[in-house]
Amino acid sequence: MSDKPEFNQARRNILIATTCAGGAATVAAAVPFVSSMLPSERAKAIGAPVEVDIGYLAAGDMMRVEWRGQPVWILHRTKEMLDAVKAAKEKVADPNSERKPSELTPEYARNEFRSAKPEYLVVVGICSHLGCSPSDRLKPGPEAFDPEWKGGFYCPCHGSLFDLAGRVYKNKPAPDNLKVPPYMYLSDAKLLIGEDKKA
Ligand code: FES
Repeated sequence: MSDKPEFNQARRNILIATTCAGGAATVAAAVPFVSSMLPSERAKAIGAPVEVDIGYLAAGDMMRVEWRGQPVWILHRTKEMLDAVKAAKEKVADPNSERKPSELTPEYARNEFRSAKPEYLVVVGICSHLGCSPSDRLKPGPEAFDPEWKGGFYCPCHGSLFDLAGRVYKNKPAPDNLKVPPYMYLSDAKLLIGEDKKA
């Protein structure tokens, strides 16, 4: 028996929303077939946590998923990237995530790497200035905006820079670090975005 058109459209939407920079992404979204639900069910599903398979994400690669209509980036950091985070401490405005901690950085991410596990950065990809989506410039090397660039994120709207932990550089228009959403590990290879407590 063939699927209904709305069923196929919803499935396509989920796949489009979960594409990966490094190749094909397999994301088990907890929001299946939203368009076929009743309004109250749909609202609930849109706010639901999203389960993400990170097992295939190679070191150095980043994937993007959507949670509550926002882009969430998951970056698998290499040792060199973690070293770059340490080296950026003097360049960033809030190295210890002390600003708006309850709003921007959950307790388990209030550390130098801003993450529950050092190797995986999980942040909402929305600039804290006026809401543009910064572009990833993960590789170190001279850039027009910084000849000594160590890797991170560049917001082209007004030139804010963020390091590989999503920490905003000093003296930039963006006032704060990128937000770390609530998340938890279901296993080494599975993340749940949007919830950080075991039921
Ligand atoms: S929106 Fe990012 S710098 Fe203005």
